[in-house]
Amino acid sequence: MNNQTRVPKFFVREIPIYGDVILAPMDGYSDAPFRALCVEFGSAMSYTEFISAESLLHPAVPDAITQRKLRFDARERVRVVQIYGHDEDKIVQAAQKLQDQQALDILDLNMGCSVRDIAARGAGAGMLREPAKIARIVARLTRVLRVPVTAKIRLGWDERTRNYLEIARILEENGAALIAVHARTKAQGYGGVADWSAIAEIKQAVKIPVLGNGDVKTVADIARIKSQTGCDGVMIGRAAIGNPWIFARQERARIAPREWLAVVKRHLAEHLEFYGATRGLILFRKHAYRYVQGEPGAAALRHALMLCNDVREFERLLEEFAVVVIKK
Ligand SMILES: Cc1cc2nc3c(=O)[nH]c(=O)nc-3n(C[C@H](O)[C@H](O)[C@H](O)COP(=O)(O)O)c2cc1C
Repeated sequence: MNNQTRVPKFFVREIPIYGDVILAPMDGYSDAPFRALCVEFGSAMSYTEFISAESLLHPAVPDAITQRKLRFDARERVRVVQIYGHDEDKIVQAAQKLQDQQALDILDLNMGCSVRDIAARGAGAGMLREPAKIARIVARLTRVLRVPVTAKIRLGWDERTRNYLEIARILEENGAALIAVHARTKAQGYGGVADWSAIAEIKQAVKIPVLGNGDVKTVADIARIKSQTGCDGVMIGRAAIGNPWIFARQERARIAPREWLAVVKRHLAEHLEFYGATRGLILFRKHAYRYVQGEPGAAALRHALMLCNDVREFERLLEEFAVVVIKK
């Protein structure tokens, strides 16, 4: 079905979004090959891994790692570049430079990263402690950029400062076109349980679209978070690693071994093309571990994959696993 015959689920300003499940930005995972695969299965927006404003402002060109993070595959439709930083001027300059030099559809500001060095400096989730600064940055970004500006937030710095409603209103008032909400505080990191009721409160408080995020682990969770929060779309992070089928609302346990193997091998091939064979194979291990997770024999296979430095042998191990182990 092409986009003309489909009905958008929601709009980010004027950009139609043809789906309500979206791969979350994940540093070290949501690169172009993985995002493109998830798009094929139904992920409706493509967020880059977070990229620092400082690295974008490097006088010549950004370093090789940053350049790679900025690459999009032709299959990706709604291209969202996510940036983070703590210096207002640098964030605005980096965003302008990006818009001038790079094809992107949306600029997203990271206000959720809980990594200590980043948050303590006032970037990522550290921004949540400075609502007035958020207002200034988003107002400036929406003034100077042609593309819509969006934000990804957490619920606050810690349990005593859950200021998500204030932040959501500030974002909307200053022109943000969408808010993605990871329903945890910075202090929670990735522990505890995501508080979906806060997403519902934000959805009630603003008119711009809201993406619900945090602890969506199964296909059934997608419907649950939608009905409990009224969110416009569902952002899925960890549960999508090794499981792009979740974007097609298919349970991984029901995927036929042949289909499983074909997808893993295709992901591997595109990953190797993107990163080069040697580095690519090492980097693919973390994806492979997650593709085999929960299956009988996974621990032995992981061990073999960890020691394997040959692409053909890597594929053979996966083939053997698919045929012998998964075929129950
Ligand atoms: C390995 C890893 C890397 C992440 N990197 C980013 C990032 O670059 N930008 C961002 O906004 N969130 C990042 N996150 C947070 C996720 O986008 C998401 O908000 C979080 O994992 C909760 O969703 P989940 O329960 O579906 O995983 C990262 C999470 C993980 C596990």
